[in-house]
Amino acid sequence: MKMKNLLVASCLWLSFTAVAVAQKVASPNGEVQMQFELLEDGTPAYSLFYKGQPVIETSKLGLILKNDEHNLINSFEVIEREESDFEETWEPVWGEESEILNKYNELAVVLNQKPTDRQMIIRFRVFNDGLGFRYEFPQQQNLGHFIIEEERTQFAMTGDHTAFWIPGDYDTQEYDYIESRLSEIRGKMEGSITDNLSQTSFSDTGVQTSLLMKTDEGLYINLHEAALVDYSAMHLELDDENMVFESWLTPDVTGNKVYMIAPGKTPWRTIIVSDDARDILASRMTYNLNEPVAIDDTSWIKPMKYVGVWWEMITGKSSWHYTNDFAAVKLGETDFENATPNDTHGATTENVKRYIDFAAKHGFDGVLVEGWNIGWEDWFGNSKDYVFDFMTPYPDFDLKEIRDYAKSKGVEMVMHHETSSSVRNYERHMDSAYQFMKDHGYNAVKSGYVGDILPRGENHYSQWLVNHYQYAIEKAADYEIMVNAHEAVRPTGVARTWPNLIANESARGTEYQAFGGSKPNHVTVLPFTRLIGGPMDYTPGIFEMDISKANPENDSWVNSTLANQLALYVTMYSPLQMAADFPENYERFPDAFQFIKDVGMDWEESVYLEAEPGDYITIARKEKGTEKWFVGNVNGETPRTSKISFDFLEPGQKYIATIYSDAKDAHYKKNPQAYNIRKVVVTSKSDLKQWSASGGGYAISIVPAEKKETKGLKKL
Ligand code: NOJ
Ligand code: CA
Repeated sequence: MKMKNLLVASCLWLSFTAVAVAQKVASPNGEVQMQFELLEDGTPAYSLFYKGQPVIETSKLGLILKNDEHNLINSFEVIEREESDFEETWEPVWGEESEILNKYNELAVVLNQKPTDRQMIIRFRVFNDGLGFRYEFPQQQNLGHFIIEEERTQFAMTGDHTAFWIPGDYDTQEYDYIESRLSEIRGKMEGSITDNLSQTSFSDTGVQTSLLMKTDEGLYINLHEAALVDYSAMHLELDDENMVFESWLTPDVTGNKVYMIAPGKTPWRTIIVSDDARDILASRMTYNLNEPVAIDDTSWIKPMKYVGVWWEMITGKSSWHYTNDFAAVKLGETDFENATPNDTHGATTENVKRYIDFAAKHGFDGVLVEGWNIGWEDWFGNSKDYVFDFMTPYPDFDLKEIRDYAKSKGVEMVMHHETSSSVRNYERHMDSAYQFMKDHGYNAVKSGYVGDILPRGENHYSQWLVNHYQYAIEKAADYEIMVNAHEAVRPTGVARTWPNLIANESARGTEYQAFGGSKPNHVTVLPFTRLIGGPMDYTPGIFEMDISKANPENDSWVNSTLANQLALYVTMYSPLQMAADFPENYERFPDAFQFIKDVGMDWEESVYLEAEPGDYITIARKEKGTEKWFVGNVNGETPRTSKISFDFLEPGQKYIATIYSDAKDAHYKKNPQAYNIRKVVVTSKSDLKQWSASGGGYAISIVPAEKKETKGLKKL
C-alpha cells in the first residue's frame, strides 16, 4: 500500500515536471508554433502547429550511442533555456531572388543527462515557413568522442498523408517519385526500386528526404535537413502503424553512422509547412539555416548556360571510350597512341569544335565535353581503384587546339571529372587536376560518382563521403573553380556558404529519359523535393523525344512536350543550365530554340503563380539587371488550363510577351513537338488563360517595349 502511494506520488511529480518544462515558441508572424517538452522519463520531445492545426504530434528527440549504456535518449533535465530572435537580409551570389530574409525566433534548451552529467543542447529556430532544429554537444568533461549508432529524431504525422517519395537508399536518389498514402509505402516499395549502378536500400518503409506530403486538410509538409556537414545523410523510416517517421542515418562500411566529437553539432532537421503549395517553393529556410558565405571574393562565380558533347553518349549514339581494343585499362601501361580508334568516340577535336561553333553562334557561355580523358574503356563495374588521372586526353582530343579555339570564339570549356566513385583516387589527383584546369582556362567542373564507392563497402551518403564532397567544393574554391557534382549527396543549402557549388544532379535527371523514360509529372515534383536543398543540373532542352532517331537500338521516349522542355528553364531553378539536345535538333526548331537563348539565368525576383505537386507549377521570374521577365509552366499528366495574372509587371509599362505553348493536339507521347508561338502586348493588368497538354507546359519571355514596337500586336 505504501509502495503504491509512493508510485502515484512520483508519477504526479513526474508529470508535473513534464508540464513545467513545456515551452512554446512561435514564428515571427505567429502562424508556426513549436512546443518543446521533457517527457516523464526525461526524454526531450517537440510538436509543431501551423495556424493552430497540429503538423507534428509529440515527437521524441535523442541519439543512440555505440557502447554507451545511457545513450542520449532520456534522463535529461533542463538546466537552461535561451530565447532570442534574429533578423537579417542577405544577398546570395546567385539565386531565385537578389535578397533573402532570414528571420526567426530561437529557443536553445540546455539539457543535462542526470546519471552521466553530460550536456546536450537542442536548438530550435521557428520561421514563418517552418521549423529547424539541431543537436549540439558543447565542450565538456564527460563527452568527447562518441559514435552515433542511430539518431532517434521523430516526426509524428497527424494522419495517413499523401506523400511524394522515393525509396530510401544509401547510394542513389535517381528514382521516379511515387505518389501514395503513407500506409501504401510498404506495398509499393519493391516496385519503386528501379535499377541503378550503385544502390543499397534498407527497409520496406524507408524513404529519402526531401520528402513532400499533403494532408487531407490541405497542409503541405516538407521534411529535409540543412547544412549537412561532417555527418551522414538522413533518411526517414516510417512506423506505418502509428505514422511516425524516425531519422535513419546512412552507415559506413562498419555499420557506424556518425563519428562525433564534442564540441560538435548535427545538421538541422527541417519541417517546412504551409497551406499554400507555392510557399514551399518560395521557402528559403534551408539556405537560412546554413552559414553565411565563406568565400571572400565571389566575383569569379557566374551563372552559366552551356551545351555539350553529352546527349550523344547518354542516348548511345556515341561512346565515351575511344577504342574497343582493350578488355581492361591500366593507366600508364595501356598504349592508347597505337590503339585502333572506334568510330563512335564523341569527344573528338572535330566534334568538339562543332559544339564550340554552335555555342559561339547562339551565345552560350560554355561547352562541356565528356569522354575526353583516357580510362573510359572500363570505367565502372570492376571495383577498380585507379580509373582516371583527369589529365591525359585521348589521342583524338587535342586539348590545346580546343582550348585555343574555344578562347578565340569567346566560349569557356567545362571540365568533366567522372570519378567512377573511386574517391580516394580523386582525392589523390585533385590538386593536380584542378591546377590542370586552371592552366587550360577551365573554370567549372562537372564531377560524377557512378558505381560503387571505393574504399569498398562505403556508401555514397555516409559521413566519410559527405566529407569528401565538401572537401572537393572547398578545394575547388581555393582554385576558383565552380562545381557541379552528379551522384553526390543531395544538397542541403550548403551553397549559401560555398556558392561555387553551382549545381548538383543528385536526383533523376533528364538522362533517364534516354534510359527508358521518367514519369511525365516528374518535373512537377522535383521543385518541391530535390530542389529544396539547392539547384539541379537537370539538363533540359530536349527537342527530339524519339531517342531511336539518335540510336536505333534505344527505344526510349522523352516523356515531355517541347513546350514543357522550354518551361523547365524557369521552373527548375539553377544558375547552371544546359541546352542538352544536339545542335542539329535545335536547328530544326530555331523559333522555339530562341527561348532557350533568351531565358535569364540569375534572378532579381521570383513569383510563384500556381503550384500543386504532381500536377503543375507556374513561376514568373525577373532577370537580374534587366527589366525582362520569364514565365514557365510545367504540367503533369492531366491537360489543364492555367490562369495567371501579370500583376507582377511594372504598372504603366507595356511589354511584348512571346508565348511558347503546346498546340491543341500536343501530347507528351503522341505529339510532343506540336507547339505554337505568338506575340502579344501585356501590361500589369493583363490576364492569361493558357492550356497545357498532358506532360506539357508553356514558356513566356516578356520584354519591355516602346509604344511603336507594339504596333500591329494584339493586346492580351
Ligand atoms: C552520370 C551523370 O549523371 C551523367 O551526366 C554523366 O554523363 C555520366 N555519369 C558519365 O559521367
Ligand atoms: Ca546521374
